[in-house]
Amino acid sequence: MTRTITRSSERTPVSREASETRYDTTNLYPTRNDLPEPTRAQVVLLLNQRLADAIDLQTQCKQAHWNVKGPTFIALHKLFDEINESVEEYVDLIAERVVQLGGIAEGTIGIVSERTTLEGYPLTISAGHDHVAALSDALAGFARTVRIGIEEMNELEDAGSADVLTEISRGVDQWLWFVEAHQTHTLS
Ligand SMILES: [Fe+2]
Repeated sequence: MTRTITRSSERTPVSREASETRYDTTNLYPTRNDLPEPTRAQVVLLLNQRLADAIDLQTQCKQAHWNVKGPTFIALHKLFDEINESVEEYVDLIAERVVQLGGIAEGTIGIVSERTTLEGYPLTISAGHDHVAALSDALAGFARTVRIGIEEMNELEDAGSADVLTEISRGVDQWLWFVEAHQTHTLS
């Protein structure tokens, strides 16, 4: 069983026909990889969804890196760029796994904006605590979809893709800790 992740906000649809920008994920390139073709087709479909989330997250890290202001500027400016560099690696891991399985990595900005499940990043914030909150939301949202993705890969019996997503999940959990540690909380 696979779970569908829905977005809470509707986005503007792309003007082109979907058939012009996407391929039918049941059509795969030939490969000697012995995972069954129906499995590879499902995995490619799901990983392309996570790829869109990861690319969106990367742009949100840069948005925070560029625009944060205030007394904690330099710490947050550097931290947000370090996270961006890690997320760039996650993007590459997911995209290249798609291609290894005979699929096409769908990473254009048009597809990403249509497909991402992350909320849009607020454009007018500047204070460090606002960027900490906004990027924490983005990291937590991505972590959630990746965790669901691990379950989906396990259900599809693709241990390699589950491992890729598990590695990413561990990394994102760590970055969420680094960002959330800038907030002071009391135990609930
Ligand atoms: Fe920079």
